[in-house]
Amino acid sequence: MKHVVFLAPYFGANIRECLRGLLELEEVRVGVITQESADRVPSAFRSRLDGHYQVRDAIDPAQLARAVRAFWKEWGRVDRLLGYMEEMQLPLARVREALGIPGMSHEVALNFRDKHRMKGLLARAGLPVARQARIAGPDDARRFAEAAGYPLVLKPLAGVGTRHTFRVDGDEELLAALNRLLPSARHPAQAEEFVSGSEHTFETVCVRGEPVWDSSTFYLPGPLEVVENPWMQYCVLLPRERRLAHVERFAPLNHAALRVLGLETGLTHMEWFHTRDDREIISEVAARPPGVNIMKMLGMAHEVDFWGKWAGLMVHERFEMPPRRWACGCAFFRGQGRGRRVAAVEGLAEALADLGERVVEARLPKVGQPRSSHYEGEGWALVRAEETAQVVDALRRLVTNTRVRYA
Ligand SMILES: Nc1ncnc2c1ncn2[C@@H]1O[C@H](COP(=O)(O)OP(=O)(O)O)[C@@H](O)[C@H]1O
Ligand SMILES: [Mg+2]
Repeated sequence: MKHVVFLAPYFGANIRECLRGLLELEEVRVGVITQESADRVPSAFRSRLDGHYQVRDAIDPAQLARAVRAFWKEWGRVDRLLGYMEEMQLPLARVREALGIPGMSHEVALNFRDKHRMKGLLARAGLPVARQARIAGPDDARRFAEAAGYPLVLKPLAGVGTRHTFRVDGDEELLAALNRLLPSARHPAQAEEFVSGSEHTFETVCVRGEPVWDSSTFYLPGPLEVVENPWMQYCVLLPRERRLAHVERFAPLNHAALRVLGLETGLTHMEWFHTRDDREIISEVAARPPGVNIMKMLGMAHEVDFWGKWAGLMVHERFEMPPRRWACGCAFFRGQGRGRRVAAVEGLAEALADLGERVVEARLPKVGQPRSSHYEGEGWALVRAEETAQVVDALRRLVTNTRVRYA
């Protein structure tokens, strides 16, 4: 029997999936730490949970430690302390370490969370990453611009979701980006040479330091291009072939990177570039399940509950996957124009009717819903087919025919 404490500040969709996966495991006892009161815990979970502890600030290590100790006292021991979101990784690791709970240490979590430290370690190990600098003020920024040249990228050291990430093409844009990020010695920013090429993900499962399974997706196009172009729709493609040629070449680099960063057991989500001159460059890697519906797609493509697989990996250190049966893709519908609400959704009904059963699941944008603040946009549709080309075709139909307008 494993005693698992799961951090769920709020019960959003991905966190509900994590929790469902954990609760469906055998030989497990699950308690949650949350910012919600017990009556706000979704009723589907309430009777199955072995405890609930409310905190005011879910990423405050002191409050987390207090909550974990309460479970410890009641259960006699805590074997796992888990959470899904990027911002939780450091406080969770700190508490694990303080209380002697197995799992990722604070040092390793920091390797994954601090972009500068991560790329420094990878570069020193001879792995391909963009040239970089930590920026504590305008002089650092100008020095880097002079040495690396434009374009460059300026972003937070521990970012998430392409927030406050800027492509800088010249001195004027550099000033604008500095104004947005206000880097200082206490709050440095990250500068990188701009890598042009297509952007991909790479998901890896490791058990006790050994990579046991992996998979790669295409971002169509990359997140920064999507954020820079608000009219753009966005797709993620999971090909039927688990290792296309470019992925086959990249896999050893990914595995070497995870070794350098010190991952033991877990699922990681890397982003990487395939450049126009056919090189592979590591962008960043997170020690948590991927977003943008990749978990759903992996489930559909292999006909398994992939969240359940993640739960089994994290709790019992077990992971087995059947071969891939399908190619999958997700189209994210993003609104255009000014305004705070969706005023019209055009072309989507026709595209969906056209695609029929290829659309497996969708959360469609609705007139009146508020404008999204995330690059995932106002809604999405997941498609599945036997051939990768059929999924590409379906995604193209979905995004070229659909317009979501704000007003
Ligand atoms: N050095 C770079 N060259 C080109 N594009 C980049 C670079 N760094 C970041 N980007 C773009 O910005 C996006 C967000 O940057 P990333 O480092 O992944 O931060 P986040 O933690 O917000 O995901 C990336 O997915 C990519 O599209
Ligand atoms: Mg990223």
